[in-house]
Parts: sequence; C-alpha cells; structure tokens
Amino acid sequence: MNRIEREDALELDRADRLAAFRDRFVLPEGRLYLDGNSLGALPRATSDAVQRVVSAQWGQDLIAGWNAHDWIGLPQRIGAAIAPLIGAKPDEVLVCDSTSVNLFKLIAGALLLRPERSVILSEPGNFPTDLYVAEGVAALRGGVRIDLHEADSIAEAIDETTALVLLTHVHYTTGRMLDMAAITRAAHAKGALVLWDLSHSTGAVPVALNESGADLAVGCGYKYLNGGPGAPAFLFVAEALQTQIRQPLSGWMGHDSPFAFEDSYRPAARLDRFLCGTPSVIGMAALEAGVAQFRDVDLPALFAKGRALSALLVRLMGERCAGFGFQLASPGNAEERGCHVSFRHADAYPVCQALIARGVVGDFRAPDRLRFGMAPLYTRFADVFDAVAHLETVMRDRLWTEPRFQLRGRVT
Ligand SMILES: Cc1ncc(COP(=O)(O)O)c(C=O)c1O
Repeated sequence: MNRIEREDALELDRADRLAAFRDRFVLPEGRLYLDGNSLGALPRATSDAVQRVVSAQWGQDLIAGWNAHDWIGLPQRIGAAIAPLIGAKPDEVLVCDSTSVNLFKLIAGALLLRPERSVILSEPGNFPTDLYVAEGVAALRGGVRIDLHEADSIAEAIDETTALVLLTHVHYTTGRMLDMAAITRAAHAKGALVLWDLSHSTGAVPVALNESGADLAVGCGYKYLNGGPGAPAFLFVAEALQTQIRQPLSGWMGHDSPFAFEDSYRPAARLDRFLCGTPSVIGMAALEAGVAQFRDVDLPALFAKGRALSALLVRLMGERCAGFGFQLASPGNAEERGCHVSFRHADAYPVCQALIARGVVGDFRAPDRLRFGMAPLYTRFADVFDAVAHLETVMRDRLWTEPRFQLRGRVT
C-alpha cells in the first residue's frame, strides 16, 4: 500500500459531500482544531442567536420572554432536537443542568426503582464524574456498593444484586465504543437498569437508544453538539420508565404545576419531573444554535466520515510517527471506536504543548495520553494529515523538550 500524501487527503476533502458544513463554523485561520470532542467549535449562527435572546428578548421583553419566546419550553424543545441524534423519541430527551447533575438524578432514580438491590456496576477508568457521582449517591442511600469490572467482562458480572450498570458508550480516553444493545440485553436479563453516558457519542457516532432498549442516558452539550463552554447537558429516560422513576432533586420546575406554588412536591407526570430549577436561557440559546447545525445533515454519511477521519489518523500515525514511541490506546478497528483516538507516550504532556504552540490543538489526558478528536461536521482530511505532519516534526526535532512545554496550567 502506498504511503498517504497530502494530495490524497485533499482529494478526500474534494470528494466529501459534507465539506460545506465546515463553513457554518468559526475556525480560526492557522489553527488545526482536533479537540471538538472536548469543546465543540463555535457555529457562526450562535453569536446572533445569543445576541437576539439578550438584546431583543431579555432587553425588550424582560420577564414576558418566558411566554413570549417560550424560554420555559427550551429544555423540551432542544431535547426534541437532540433525540434523532441518539435514536430516541422527542419526548424522551430533556436539556437541563450539567452532565454530572443529571447523572446524580438518574443514578438516584435508578436506585429508587431497585430498592432491594445493592450494586452499581461500572468500569475502572470510566470518566471520573460518573464514578464520583455514583459514590455520592451510594453514600446517601447506604448499603450500596460500586463494583468496577473491565468493560469486556461487565455483562458476565451482572447478577440479581445489580441495580444499575453505569457505562460511557464511547470511552473518553480510548474512544472504545461499547455494544449498547448487547450490554443492555444482559442487564435486563438480570433485572438491572442501564445508564449510558453519551458525552463522546452524540453527534459523532450512531446511537440507537430505543432500538437497544436503553433505560437511561446523559450527555454533554459542549462537545460535538457545539453548545459552548459549560453548555447545559441532556438526559434521556425511556418512555416506559417515565411515570415510575423519581428523582431526589425535587425542584419546582419538576413539579406537576410549578406556578400553582403548592407547599408540597408532586412530580410532573412524565419526563419534566427531571427538571429541577429555572432553565439557563442564554446558555440554552447557544446550545440550541449548536444542535441546529445537525438539522439537514445526512447522519449515516456524517458518521461514516467520522470513521474515515479516525482511520486516516491511525494510518498516518503508523506511516509517519512509528519510531517515536507512540502506542495506539484506541481500538485499531474504526467500527469499534468513536471519533477520537488516543496514543500513549511517556512525554505526552510536553508533546501536546509543543503541538499546540504550532497551532495543532489536540489534548492531553493524564497520565500519558495524547488525544485527537475529529468532529465530522468541520474536521477536514487535510487537517488530519497536517496535524500528523506537525507531530512528526515535533518528534523528529525533539521540539517538545523545550522547558516551556513542561509547565502545567490548571486545566490540562
Ligand atoms: C464521559 C463524560 N461524562 C461527563 C463529562 C463532564 O460532565 P460535566 O459537564 O458535568 O462536567 C465529561 C467531560 O469531559 C465526559 O467526558
């Protein structure tokens, strides 16, 4: 097989039917942005959308905006727009709070549905907030244990004591994608519920919550959904569970009749019971603009492009950076991973900093991973080629050894 050259990558971009979507985003000149899996790029439409809410709506209509502009309906409206990306019905998805808070609500809700069971199953190395929040909920209920099993053996570990299986569909460092349908089936066979964290899946890979029989899910709004830093998150509760499940953050927005101002909590009939407080309208306006970028996208083509981008990265790394001590930390087969790929390297941190100094933005994940995320809405094949070419130079010329690249900021 011939080595891939830059012209080959440009040819792939010319043949890409989705190439025009990139123009919908603000992508600074001279920057190769391979971190859309961590913070999505800014859609061109977002500034106007936010400006409209701030100046025309809040500025002019003040409190009337809640009805006049249906601010109060934002959690459901954006949830319905996210639903097709994750194979859910429009009334099964709600936008609210952060992923961490939504994890709390759903983990607690699941434990309330399985009061006689005492185990939350997850995997070692799951995203920290998932494990930490599970610990917090377990401590509140008492008598609940968190058991960690490698993802490959998790299905066998599920038994009659398992209340909840808590997994991230696409792993945040390795990018490994789990078989949602098979794990959900195994959990249901033993009477357990499953909660999927879709933070690295939504907008990047096909997700079929309904087809898999999934119970519960959460996901971030600021990654592939392009909702902006700290954007509100989403949660999913399968229709069949919505009237049974309760959650402990029983704020007034989750009340059946918030504006009746009753003294006692009565949960809303269905999914709205997962709301807690007042929606963050400006943040939601940005998220709504981010999610709208998917509106006329051919999703199977988008997901195929994501796989092709990550496959190109892996191949180029093999062709150009093989002798520099990188070890692929993601599945080799693009069908088994999401849109990000990570590599182990003893000096991953300074290597990442040296790349950033050259305008190539990937990220570092402790202790030793260099991670590159390809957002199929705006990443070009040539970006992947150029990023690997920069990495080759950084390694060949040992540019990462400069002292300034060893310094660590608060956010790595
Ligand atoms: C899998 C996963 N879950 C959750 C989060 C973050 O949750 P929060 O938005 O509450 O900080 C991340 C952030 O990167 C993540 O990768």
